[in-house]
Amino acid sequence: MKIRTSTLSALKQKGQRFSCLTSYDALTAEIFDQAGIEVILVGDSASNTVLANDGTLPITLDEMLIFGRAVSRSVKDALVVLDMPFGSYEISALQAVENGIRAMKESGAAAIKLEGARIEQIKALVDAGIPVMGHVGFTPQSVHALGGFKVQGRGESADDILRDCLAIQQAGAFAVVLEMVPADLAERITKELSIPTIGIGAGNKTDAQILVWTDFAGLGEKVPTFAKQYLNLRQDLSNAAVNYRSEVLSREFPTAEQSFS
Ligand code: KIV
Repeated sequence: MKIRTSTLSALKQKGQRFSCLTSYDALTAEIFDQAGIEVILVGDSASNTVLANDGTLPITLDEMLIFGRAVSRSVKDALVVLDMPFGSYEISALQAVENGIRAMKESGAAAIKLEGARIEQIKALVDAGIPVMGHVGFTPQSVHALGGFKVQGRGESADDILRDCLAIQQAGAFAVVLEMVPADLAERITKELSIPTIGIGAGNKTDAQILVWTDFAGLGEKVPTFAKQYLNLRQDLSNAAVNYRSEVLSREFPTAEQSFS
């Protein structure tokens, strides 16, 4: 079944959860889509996971569009959301709409995501017909302004995050990511909002969960404490590469089966 933003809102109304993963390439996008993952985010985490940058700030819109096209072409049912990279929407509502239109036209995604309570930008994008996913709590594009990788919304700042979420909803966003916020705050926000909340490091009371696929698959060297590894792909790939090399050196590979006569 084709997942649309309206599907996610119907799931929230029925009290049903949904799942999200990131993807940046054709093959994982196809696998996650066929596994029934409802939302595939072409995250700007591609900056570190694919392009080996230190953090998400360096990735450009042009680079994001390449990953977005690969994912959109490979997905049949999931809702594909493209992350707007740092520098592509902060200046003004006009900048956000210009780049948002480019993102939709050139990536084939069905929605975009942007970080922070950028209310004017969200309103203008929604007015232009572009579905927007919000993202609050720890927002990686603001890592330097936030003083590092820190849980957000402890103590008095909890109310600020709730207020931001309500404003993002009011501006027309169809969902909001809550990253690295205390579980009880995420639960409170989830109860207050009519749009779905998608948690990452936000406890298990949100309407949905998201993980960076390389964390969930255990491909990266470091995995954040809030992520669960569902397999150990790094070790499996490493074992396979060692095995392959040894068979090449010993002439065990290729056999007659893998050769032409
Ligand atoms: O870029 C990304 O992968 C994200 C998720 C962590 C939500 O924004």
